[in-house]
Amino acid sequence: MASLVSKEEMLKQEKYIATVNSLIKGQGKKAFVYTLGCQQNEADSERIMALLLKMGYEKAQDEKEADILIVNTCAIRDHAEKRALSIIGRFKHYKVARPDIVIGVCGCMTAQKHRADHLKHSYHYVDFTFGTSMLHRLGEFVLSALNKGKRAFYLDEATPEIAEGIPHERESTYRAWVSIMYGCNNFCTYCIVPYVRGRERSRKMCDILAEIKDLVKRGYREITLLGQNVNSYGKDLEDKPTIANLLNEINKIEGDFIIHLMTSHPKDASKEMIEAIKSSKRTKSHFHLPLQSGSDDILTKMNRHYDIERYLGIIERLRENNPDIVLTTDIIVGFPGETEEDFQKTLDIIKKVEFDTIYSFIYSPRQGTPAYSMEQIPEEIKHERYERFCQVQNEIANKLNQKMLNKVYRVLVDGKSKGNEKMYTSRTEGNKIVHFESDTDYTGKFVNVKITRADTFNLFGEIIN
Ligand code: 5AD
Ligand code: SF4
Repeated sequence: MASLVSKEEMLKQEKYIATVNSLIKGQGKKAFVYTLGCQQNEADSERIMALLLKMGYEKAQDEKEADILIVNTCAIRDHAEKRALSIIGRFKHYKVARPDIVIGVCGCMTAQKHRADHLKHSYHYVDFTFGTSMLHRLGEFVLSALNKGKRAFYLDEATPEIAEGIPHERESTYRAWVSIMYGCNNFCTYCIVPYVRGRERSRKMCDILAEIKDLVKRGYREITLLGQNVNSYGKDLEDKPTIANLLNEINKIEGDFIIHLMTSHPKDASKEMIEAIKSSKRTKSHFHLPLQSGSDDILTKMNRHYDIERYLGIIERLRENNPDIVLTTDIIVGFPGETEEDFQKTLDIIKKVEFDTIYSFIYSPRQGTPAYSMEQIPEEIKHERYERFCQVQNEIANKLNQKMLNKVYRVLVDGKSKGNEKMYTSRTEGNKIVHFESDTDYTGKFVNVKITRADTFNLFGEIIN
């Protein structure tokens, strides 16, 4: 069972925060956090910003005006790391112009030793880096940088702890992320996550429920439960609660709000969990279930521990009493050893299941993972397959969108679309984006919208009273 960061340590951190506060008080210092990657990083950045505000910084509107810059990085694919390095590279000019600014880098990229070393040796203006489980120590790192202490490059502990009680500076006033667990035990052979986020650690159910109750009381309408594999929630806790137990408890909370889960693993999709998803109006509209490949051979090489038959069985059960459930998935194209036949199997299954949205990725070798040293397939073949994949999926997405025409959906409104004063964007409870015109601003509220136009990537509708 993961232990909590001790009260003594949290108190010590409070003191660092207070000291930073007294150092920069009244100086109008500003903070900017640049976030790359997944929702977990978005959620972490909301906590980073909250800590910076506590230290006395104000939110900068633009990176150029910031006195402290934090880059929260991602390592899932090569492209994400390249982007992080290019952003960090850009920040050099700010430090040259104003040597007193503080630059910190955190997240999955810096949790890898070779990357932390690279930043240490080649980016001399970076003051500190830290791993994914250390953000509660931000005050300590900032204080040291302000006092011109030694540059510091912290890697995560072998058994990271959970820090409760860190505030969030949430980006939205109606959609919220709630981390229910951290880390991953699965070691899919392509994936860097278990190496940079450590083993699975679940938060206690009482802490999660308290956070959700508070959010609902404050008017939040959509809550996404975050974890690398939310359906193995609780296995590491003493009383072994399950994700189904957690969902059932969340359902007892009064209020009008919906729940998404991000993300699940088919091998752990228990009957009990599927029933809990299906039976609640808060969860029954959408489910994200990463498939990764349509070939059993590739799934074995990926160390996924399920086959296509099992996956299709889960989909069938999810659709049993709600055939309209929005299903989304992740697919990797071009995993080492993927033959044209394997790839065809992926095309076959996506045609069979008809996912509403697929987050598809070209396989990107990650140093330190088993697939990195498997025989790679040529780049041009990966790209050519990816193109074909997108064509097939776009046709499916278009067909499914057309089916929504003239139907009425409840949507949560996100605010004005760019470039048109009267156009608003929103999402259905199944997480599909719908644009509509309105004279009234319903941002943060549920409204009913009838779909009037649909293409591959967009849905348009009109408000129904
Ligand atoms: N290359 C490409 N895609 C990857 N993913 C994870 N690791 C890699 C990689 N090395 C994808 C998986 C996962 C999603 C979050 O990112 O599909 O589900
Ligand atoms: Fe990566 Fe697999 Fe863990 Fe997901 S379940 S984070 S793909 S190792």
